Order: sequence, then structure tokens, then C-alpha cells
Amino acid sequence: MRIVLVGPPGAGKGTQAAFLAKNLSIPHISTGDLFRANISQGTELGKQAKAFMDAGNLVPDEVTIGMAKDRMEQPDAERGFLLDGFPRNVSQAVALDETLKAESMKLDAVLDLEVPEDEVVKRIAGRRICRKDSSHVFHVTYKRPEKEGVCDVCGGELYQREDDSEATVRKRLEVYHTQTEPIIDFYREQGLVVTISALGKVEDVTGRAMEALRSRE
Ligand code: AP5
Ligand code: ZN
Repeated sequence: MRIVLVGPPGAGKGTQAAFLAKNLSIPHISTGDLFRANISQGTELGKQAKAFMDAGNLVPDEVTIGMAKDRMEQPDAERGFLLDGFPRNVSQAVALDETLKAESMKLDAVLDLEVPEDEVVKRIAGRRICRKDSSHVFHVTYKRPEKEGVCDVCGGELYQREDDSEATVRKRLEVYHTQTEPIIDFYREQGLVVTISALGKVEDVTGRAMEALRSRE
């Protein structure tokens, strides 16, 4: 399946994507994780992205679209993929449509995670991620690591993302409403959107998501 995951910052996209990608045997492609990996490796792309991310703004399309395309062209993405954080504005959605069309492929579903803003703020404030692998995500109350400050998966150090400060989160939410939400209407016109509540236990949300996606198979 080819799936786009959409939802506000802190909705639980990364958390859900890890389970969904495993259940569906497709790669989880997160543009946020790709940028963070580039930043920690000190690449030119990472250098270009960092200032935008730290300010809560979108990284320019010229950088983002090429990076996402390269990742989608890897062999493991031939059987499908779960996109997390891409597309994030209408021009990225149009670019994705064109890329897929050129390969005679199409999306199967756009899974929209709905969470009230006050919950999103709590989730982001308590989030801690792993220095070694930013897909290892914890929460100081909702998903506590066994040993404080240490990743359960790989033993890496847990830290708070720089863009998780209160001011930057406010900016990211504003960017989500103005630039990302319009892609939901764009995909709704194509009949692709399934909206689920992302409130409640992680496993309950995964169950709801799997049910919604099966209805699209
Ligand atoms: P990105 O990394 O994509 O960040 P985001 O969209 O803001 O999403 P988050 O990672 O903040 O949240 P999430 O929904 O994945 O939540 P999570 O699972 O961690 O992007 C970062 C930046 O990169 C952007 O601002 C931009 O600058 C740039 N960028 C990325 N893609 C781009 C693009 N396409 N174009 C341009 N720029 C781009 O969960 C949050 C917390 O809640 C965790 O602590 C988790 O443990 C907890 N939690 C999860 N589910 C539950 C639950 N059910 N109950 C309780 N707690 C839960
Ligand atoms: Zn880790």
C-alpha cells in the first residue's frame, strides 16, 4: 500500500507509523527523521534544513521534494510506503502526484490523525527522543523509558528536540493549520482521506488505523 499520514505536530504520526509500517510490511518514510539524521551526520542537506526546523518553519520545497523522491526510489519502497510528514503543503502534494503518475502508481489512502490542540501540546512537552535514532520516541509520562534518560531500544541518550520548545511548537501548529491542512481538502477531492481519532492508548489508535486502512485495500 502507499499511504500518507497526516496530523498536527505531536499527533503521534511517528509513533503510529512504526507499528503500521511493521504490520503492513512497508517502509516508514519520515522527512523529519531524514532531516534529523542529516543534521546529526553534519551533511550539507542537514545544514540547509536546520535553521528552518529550529524556527518551526517548513524546509524549502527544493530541498525537501528531492530528498523525499530519492528515498521513495530506494528498492524497499517498491512494494509501497508509509509517508510521515510528507507532503506538507499543496505544492509537495502536487509533486508527489506527478512522481507517482510517471510510474503509473497512485496513493491508496491518506490517514488523518485527529487530536485536540491541548493534548498535542502535552504530548510534545513530554516527548524525549533518542540521540542515536530519532525514530525511538518516548514520553516522560505516557511512555516512560525503563531507565530515565536512556533509550530502551538501543541504549542511546534521550533528549528533548530543539523544535519542541513552547514558542516553536506554537509556530509549528500555525504552519500546520495554514500550510499543511489544505492538503487534506486536496486529497479529500480525490476520495483518499480517512480520519480517525488519535486519542487514547497507542495500541487502540493503531487498531483504529489498521481498520481504516483495511477498508481501503
Ligand atoms: P516532523 O519530524 O515531521 O515533526 P511534526 O510533524 O511536527 O511531528 P512530530 O514529530 O512533532 O510529531 P508526531 O506526530 O510524529 O508525534 P510522535 O509520534 O513523536 O518535522 C519536523 C520539522 O522538519 C518541521 O517542522 C519542518 O521544519 C521539517 N520538515 C519535515 N518534513 C517536512 C516537509 N515535508 N516539508 C518541509 N519541512 C519539513 O508523538 C508525540 C509524543 O506523544 C511522543 O512523546 C509520544 O510518545 C507521545 N504519544 C504518541 N501517541 C500517544 C498516545 N496515543 N497517547 C499518549 N502519548 C502518545
Ligand atoms: Zn534508541
